[in-house]
Amino acid sequence: MTNPQSLPRTVRKMHLDDIAKVLVVERDAFTMPWSEQAFLNELGKNPFATYQVIETHGQIVGYGGMWIVMYEAHITNFAIHSSFRGHSFGKELFQAMLDEAVKYGVKKVTLEVRVSNHRAQKLYQHFGFVKTGLEVGYYTDTNEDAYVMTLEM
Ligand SMILES: CC(C)(COP(=O)(O)OP(=O)(O)OC[C@H]1O[C@@H](n2cnc3c(N)ncnc32)[C@H](O)[C@@H]1OP(=O)(O)O)[C@@H](O)C(=O)NCCC(=O)NCCS
Repeated sequence: MTNPQSLPRTVRKMHLDDIAKVLVVERDAFTMPWSEQAFLNELGKNPFATYQVIETHGQIVGYGGMWIVMYEAHITNFAIHSSFRGHSFGKELFQAMLDEAVKYGVKKVTLEVRVSNHRAQKLYQHFGFVKTGLEVGYYTDTNEDAYVMTLEM
């Protein structure tokens, strides 16, 4: 069996010229993908936003981002390309995102996740997140509810 850690991995800040490759992951991972313009706004215009990518052999296989305002961070987006899931890229990237939040003095991290997305929920619970709320009909494509999950650092 392949060791899930055997592929090399590097986490670094996302740059504007990464967007085309990030969009490949975004469109693979989500039914309502963000547009190129959304990423351009986040990286170029939003002073509260911070985004990271994870690479293997120079290929971007995932990315994640958050808004940090005062002592709170809100995860806006987080995905690993389906061809690279189950190799701990998600955990490693998410750990790097939490480390980044700590550098900014963040005390609390929140996110929304589809109630059907058990895989992501399990990952978040691994990092200590707990379910603290329910947003009814949060996802407009299917009207699915979202759990709000929170980590008190
Ligand atoms: C959620 C996601 C980022 C996880 O990425 P990943 O690289 O596969 O995650 P990892 O390999 O690091 O696994 C992390 C944990 O996820 C869970 N997990 C992984 N594969 C799983 C599976 N097939 N079934 C259930 N849980 C699974 C486990 O808790 C695992 O930890 P463990 O290996 O200690 O058991 C990825 O599935 C994804 O991009 N999904 C689509 C986008 C998405 O849902 N983003 C989150 C929006 S809120």
